Amino acid sequence: MMNLIALIHRFKNFIKVCSAALLLIVSSICLADEIVDKSSEIENKAANINLLEDFILTDRCPPSFELTEQGVCRLLTQYQFYSSVQNKGLGGTQTNLPPHRDGFTPAQIDLGRFLFFDPALSKDGSISCASCHQPDKGFSDDLDRSIGITGEKVARSAPTLWNVAFVDKFFWDVRAKTLEEQAQGPLFDPLEMGNTREHLLATLTSNSRYVAMFKQAFPQYFLPGKSLQLAQVYTALTAFQASLISLNSRYDRYAHGYHQALTDEEIAGLNVFRSFVARCAECHQPPLFTNNEIAVIGTPEPEGRSLDIGAEKTYNAPKLRGAFKVPTLRNITKSAPYMHSGRYADLRDAVKFYNDGRGNSVPEGEEMLLHWHISEPDLTDDELDLIVTFLGTLTDESLTPQIPKQVPSGLAVIDERFQHNKKNQQSLQQKKPTNTALTTKKSHQNVSMQSGE
Ligand code: HEC
Ligand code: HEC
Repeated sequence: MMNLIALIHRFKNFIKVCSAALLLIVSSICLADEIVDKSSEIENKAANINLLEDFILTDRCPPSFELTEQGVCRLLTQYQFYSSVQNKGLGGTQTNLPPHRDGFTPAQIDLGRFLFFDPALSKDGSISCASCHQPDKGFSDDLDRSIGITGEKVARSAPTLWNVAFVDKFFWDVRAKTLEEQAQGPLFDPLEMGNTREHLLATLTSNSRYVAMFKQAFPQYFLPGKSLQLAQVYTALTAFQASLISLNSRYDRYAHGYHQALTDEEIAGLNVFRSFVARCAECHQPPLFTNNEIAVIGTPEPEGRSLDIGAEKTYNAPKLRGAFKVPTLRNITKSAPYMHSGRYADLRDAVKFYNDGRGNSVPEGEEMLLHWHISEPDLTDDELDLIVTFLGTLTDESLTPQIPKQVPSGLAVIDERFQHNKKNQQSLQQKKPTNTALTTKKSHQNVSMQSGE
């Protein structure tokens, strides 16, 4: 009995010592926290940011994703219910989707969103990914060829990022195999964001907000001795981009069996699009409107520019001279100008290219192995119009993510160059005569599309 009392007594003492130690640890943590808080307060003032809460990462998946028991987001779409047999449903429209990227945590997706919009990722803090992949321009820009930090035009046009989760080859010449690999292109290209690995890492690690956010998004990597790595930057950017899903357009509702989702004219357009005369759907296969392949189709270069050999360089294969990846046509009305070169400002001109005859733009003396589905369809003007009308039904921007009001660097989210381009574009548009029947028709369609939502 005595022994037991002594034991309890000793145990009590032990608890006392422990709680004192605990108090010491907790208070020192609190103190450290206070110091961190103070320093970030100063930083906040310097950057004119007061809402530190803005940088707390979400614990919810984006709409259309479900949170699994493992705490990651899985995409849910109606297409996943179709068995992958082709040519089922309304003329082959109910087919399953190819494998895609998902399985990121809500915090990783959200961190990627901040990084994507933060000009701090560029060498001089002047442009972000979003400068060339603007949400309101179909995650592209309105330039024939994008402009990077030097103010010079880069070699090609910015492709859309919608449904990039389903893409397995990146860039027009398919030189990157993953989104993680792709992201390093613009970040470290002297003509694009012009950064270096060392400088980017230094920028992020010296920003206490980013350090805290990376800890939240990648807790497993922040064990003692480990810290923020560039690989986490690429993963977060990938997580964000893989959340840009556009599969709920009026076309999709039609494909899922709701016939009234499209007008008779639009259905007629779909039928021309997938006919064996036009053959568009051979390469721009539903539901993604790409087959994720490359093809030589012989589009023209911008005036005065020499031939872009495309995937010939990637694979060192002369038969791929002038081959480019087949781009998705989702949200296509939003992402003008078109083609790798941005040669076509207008969607109808891009569609008409296919009707102008096989090899119509191949430079003299060039040998190009044009794809066998590039034919001489001889479509009427009305049929071309119908295709353009149909392409307008592929618009769905319902999952457009929120543009952050502020980014952890404190830099302006919508950078000056973006504003400048936008202003220029607006004044150009004001100057443009709006006399063509097509323009009026198109804007009319857009209006009716919204009212049908
Ligand atoms: C200066 C403008 C510019 C900036 C900034 C920029 N991009 Fe791009 N992006 C482009 C252009 C142009 C291409 C096509 C280049 C090519 O194919 O050679 C492209 C291609 C891509 C692609 C390939 C898409 C596909 O379907 O093949 C992805 C993904 C992408 N960019 C993501 C990003 C991310 C992420 C960032 C920020 C880290 C970023 N971009 C910054 C202009 C830009
Ligand atoms: C042999 C495969 C193939 C066929 C058939 C095909 N395309 Fe394409 N399409 C491509 C490729 C490859 C590109 C990119 C070419 C480039 O950038 O030079 C492209 C680009 C486009 C673009 C521009 C997309 C963008 O984001 O810039 C549009 C619009 C388009 N195609 C519509 C059509 C239509 C309409 C048809 C049918 C009349 C059609 N395509 C038939 C392979 C094909």
